[in-house]
Amino acid sequence: MKILMVCLGNICRSPLAEGILKQKVKKKELTWQIDSAGTSGWHIGELPDSRSISTAKQHGIDISDQRSRQLKASDLQEFDLILAMDTSNYNDILRLANKEQRDKVKMILNFAYPGENRAVPDPYYNDGFEQVYQLLDIACDQLIQQNSNSK
Ligand code: 4NP
Repeated sequence: MKILMVCLGNICRSPLAEGILKQKVKKKELTWQIDSAGTSGWHIGELPDSRSISTAKQHGIDISDQRSRQLKASDLQEFDLILAMDTSNYNDILRLANKEQRDKVKMILNFAYPGENRAVPDPYYNDGFEQVYQLLDIACDQLIQQNSNSK
């Protein structure tokens, strides 16, 4: 399984999602590959937001090796699952997808709250990084539970 986490800037939510899922996958000894990207190119090359780094650190996860990159069309080919944090990310990702690739794109919180299309709130201006962490933690647990037979 190759999973790509996607948000707007790739500095707040999707780096946390990448770090959380990588830690869980390692614990379960799964061979999945996890990456993240942003739909915008606003923060290319930057470290995750310092608030994401410290929230992850409080939970024993180091995400300071990550650097922001922009989502590209070839990601839709390369990854098995492309997970959006909110509806606007979801629609932006679909713009790069062909017909066959559309089904790979999902709202990440639908793993925890099926069919509800809930958003991971953007914490960039409003804060709430711990809440973002908790939502992503639940979603990643469910994602693993529902795909644990996948290589
Ligand atoms: P993210 O958060 O999409 O979770 O990385 C944001 C980061 C930067 C901006 C907005 C959201 N920004 O406007 O620069």
